[in-house]
Amino acid sequence: MAILFDEGNKNFYIQTNNTSYVMHLLQSKYLQHVFWGKKIPSISACQYQKYYECEQEFSKNGGTMDSLPHEYPDFGNGDFRKPALVVNCADGSEVIELEYSGYKIYDGKKPLKGLPATYARDAGDQTLEITLSDEKTGLSIVLRYTAFEKHDAIARSVTVLNGGDSEIKLKTAMSASLDMELEKGFRLLSLSGAWANENNVIEREIKPGSFSVESRRIASSHQNNPFIALLSGNAGEDCGDVYGFSLVYSGSFLCDIETDINFNARVRVGLNPFDFEWCLSPGESFTTPEVVMVYSDEGLGKMSRIYHRLYRECLCRGNFRDKERPILINNWEATYFDFDEKKLLEIADEAAKLGVELFVLDDGWFGSRDDDTSSLGDWHTDMKKLPHGLKYLSEKINQKGMKFGLWVEPEMISPDSDLYRAHPDWCIHVDGRDRLTIRNQFVLDLTRIEVRDWIVDTISNVLKEAGVSYVKWDMNRNITSPGSPSLDAKRQKEFSHRYILGLYDILERITSAFPNVLFEGCASGGGRFDPGMLYYMPQTWTSDDTDAVQRVKIQYGTSIVYPAITMGAHVSAVPNHIMGRVTPLETRQNTAMCGNYGFELDVTKLDDCEKEKIAESIKYYKEIRRIVQFGDLYRLESLYKGNCAALMYVAEDRRDAVVFLFRERMELRKAARTLRLKGLDLTADYEICELGIRMPAVELENVGLVMPLGKGDFQSCIMRLHRVN
Ligand code: GLA
Repeated sequence: MAILFDEGNKNFYIQTNNTSYVMHLLQSKYLQHVFWGKKIPSISACQYQKYYECEQEFSKNGGTMDSLPHEYPDFGNGDFRKPALVVNCADGSEVIELEYSGYKIYDGKKPLKGLPATYARDAGDQTLEITLSDEKTGLSIVLRYTAFEKHDAIARSVTVLNGGDSEIKLKTAMSASLDMELEKGFRLLSLSGAWANENNVIEREIKPGSFSVESRRIASSHQNNPFIALLSGNAGEDCGDVYGFSLVYSGSFLCDIETDINFNARVRVGLNPFDFEWCLSPGESFTTPEVVMVYSDEGLGKMSRIYHRLYRECLCRGNFRDKERPILINNWEATYFDFDEKKLLEIADEAAKLGVELFVLDDGWFGSRDDDTSSLGDWHTDMKKLPHGLKYLSEKINQKGMKFGLWVEPEMISPDSDLYRAHPDWCIHVDGRDRLTIRNQFVLDLTRIEVRDWIVDTISNVLKEAGVSYVKWDMNRNITSPGSPSLDAKRQKEFSHRYILGLYDILERITSAFPNVLFEGCASGGGRFDPGMLYYMPQTWTSDDTDAVQRVKIQYGTSIVYPAITMGAHVSAVPNHIMGRVTPLETRQNTAMCGNYGFELDVTKLDDCEKEKIAESIKYYKEIRRIVQFGDLYRLESLYKGNCAALMYVAEDRRDAVVFLFRERMELRKAARTLRLKGLDLTADYEICELGIRMPAVELENVGLVMPLGKGDFQSCIMRLHRVN
């Protein structure tokens, strides 16, 4: 049993195989947070005695609600920290008093209507719903917790129901709030970046005060991934306490922490209250996105492995969830907009010979799109470039033994497009104000059902007619002038969330209509690399930056939460188009093989030696693909901490493993450094195929291997390990 209510002591226990989460009902009324961490059988009554003292003090004098660890704090009752819930009541006041009114526990997990979410697959998974109510307004709040027993993760979400008889306005509704006693030295980790530089691992010491990681872009964003982790002072890759919070959402979000001088902290994660309000008429309810919380007592590495498995098995869906992903070639960096049928078929021809499995036609195949100034919305083939049409091209590619994939950017509309000329009101705008283009494009108003229906129909027809097996779903600008003429004035601040709900509606309809199409998300690279998108599309283009050194860092940061199978990673030409850097082909290959392997260069321009190397790497990747895509990741070295990065993927049965090692700069005296491996079966010996040696795992993990790298900058290697006894 994962979840239990101890009636006598008024404690809720959420248990997973190795963790516990405990809440206590103070005075049978106030829901308090007691503990989240390593598994404990039960809590002794003396642990929450302090709450009674605070509460009694509060009853007498008021004011000390401020020191209680509230499970879902409201506003106006003596807790002066930031609330999880703010509601503007019919009388204009924002004061509410949430009190416990009941609970239920059930097996499994219900879907969150209209929102992406993890789903339960294992017998031990259970859900707890605790209801808190405000008598005066008739408002009730359902706090929902699912225990993923085997995975050691807890998913939380909240439903707010207006059970009163007047309209109320929701101003803040966090998915989770957590009051924790930290110690001095705790750090907050975020994944922050920019276009072409996503998911840098940033750590900062937590000090008294407030700090937030957020997006206000109506996309989860390049700037901050919807994730934070708290790390104890001694925590590292393999040791110490780590608390992870990952939000299953693709729009504007907020993760913040408020800490007092005694290191009592409140963490809040959820929809960004900035520019947000939601009107709830009597009887209406609102459900927040969910946050997935993971506690690890063995550092960041274990936390990442928990997220990886959970997201691979219980977030991603569809026919491709458990399948090895195809090696693809994408024509974008090879041709940009400058291609025709002949050129594409030449690339496809060469790629097929090299062993590539999927050919992806990127931007520029539709309308009259010879650059980025036109045609988004005109999703019909440009017959000047492709005189025989898409179906012909796709069949030609199939004949070469490859599947055919297509780039689309359905959320967008170019001012210079037939669609815009026909429906100038379909783009996001505020009446009477200028419409701002970014990358020469506007965004379609996905809050409108007729726009969503049009997108679903139009894109479905393209996929059907052209025989498409893979879609790259791009989104290349953030939203300005948020608002919709189709919403009442009082609902304008619902726009941002409604846009994302509209997007989810479209994705649900299209992805379920095409179960045999592999969808890959993209937003100028990793601008929407989040668990919400992965629910619909099981992989994402990690970054527009394909430079090997930059990629090692970006993919390393991305791996803090997301498994390798979700990361698109391609070999491109040198000098790199964004960085101008020249790196060896082997290193570009080895970097890309850490994710979903692919190519983004003109293979017809390669010399024979390069072609041979690429063909070999493809053959090699096909052999190790299962381990990379479904294995457990161990991070051995980090470019954020030194000159080398090393990632190791270990198959579930620990018979096989692959180690990827990179060194950024040649360092004379450090050339003979050792690399200590992890995750092996310590009772076994392993053969290291590339080195032709055998060694006990215990030696590989404790003594390590001399790094087998040659001279020069940007060197790398791969080593495959196989258990021999
Ligand atoms: C975005 C994507 C690229 C490419 C271009 C096409 O920038 O991230 O991979 O598809 O759009 O315009």
